[in-house]
Amino acid sequence: MADAAPIPLGLIESLRSARRICVFSGAGMSAESGVPTFRDALTGLWERFDAERLATPEAFHRDPSLVWGWYEWRRMKMRLAQPHAGHRALAGLERRAAQLTVITQNVDDLHERAGNTNVLHLHGSLEATRCVRCAAPFALPADIPQEPEGGRRIEPPRCASCGGRVRPGVVWFGESLPMPILQPAHDAAAACDVWITVGTSGLVYPAAELPLVAARAGATLVQINPLPTPLDAHYDHVLSGTAAQCLPELFAQERDRASLQPGRS
Ligand code: APR
Repeated sequence: MADAAPIPLGLIESLRSARRICVFSGAGMSAESGVPTFRDALTGLWERFDAERLATPEAFHRDPSLVWGWYEWRRMKMRLAQPHAGHRALAGLERRAAQLTVITQNVDDLHERAGNTNVLHLHGSLEATRCVRCAAPFALPADIPQEPEGGRRIEPPRCASCGGRVRPGVVWFGESLPMPILQPAHDAAAACDVWITVGTSGLVYPAAELPLVAARAGATLVQINPLPTPLDAHYDHVLSGTAAQCLPELFAQERDRASLQPGRS
């Protein structure tokens, strides 16, 4: 791999002096672990569907076995995936930093499997299933779903207490984000010294508003993405590359540079 571009000294300084750091991740953070991004997950049975039409309460009501099959296929992909060097670098940062909050739009558990303990899931979690009628939590079987590559229709299980259908624990389009998650995410954004966005297109609100909350609060803003995004102009530093490349490199250079400065460890 070509030598990574030197990380700007200003960013190294900001990271070193930061007391509170927030990392805001999207589907691109999980891409190198083999979890298809939201829009890439439209293959096989779901090829002719538009993601936003599948991930809605109306779609589940209209065709529950199609939607449940899609989420079981995605859950299989997630369970077969392993955290990559970028996830591990963030877990390492949590052990070193004064305070790290990971705010993710992802419904997988790769941040937690890498070792991060302070993770806020804005869009829910694939494992946190519940009854669509009485909201009773539903425990999924522990084993990894065995789904055909092209996907299949699966009738959702039924709730043990009211017989209602069980739905995925994700936030669907048209649904509000859970306030018990959105409020602490907003507070962390407003209080952080450094904000690192990685692997999101910044198109979906209200999540995409959070970097602007951090900017207004005076945080140093960093974007990691191999492609430009509509919010790049709001960032102090844009690192063009992937999550698995840039995150380990960023913290390695921060540590190396620090050790070169007398009296710093
Ligand atoms: N490393 C870093 N970024 C990457 C990588 C990678 N390896 N691969 C792709 N990306 C970037 C893409 O350039 C793109 O900007 O990740 C972004 C993925 O964008 P989306 O697919 O739109 O995913 P996301 O931003 O998370 O979507 C937001 O919308 O789809 C709904 O609820 C879903 O949480 C999701 C939300």
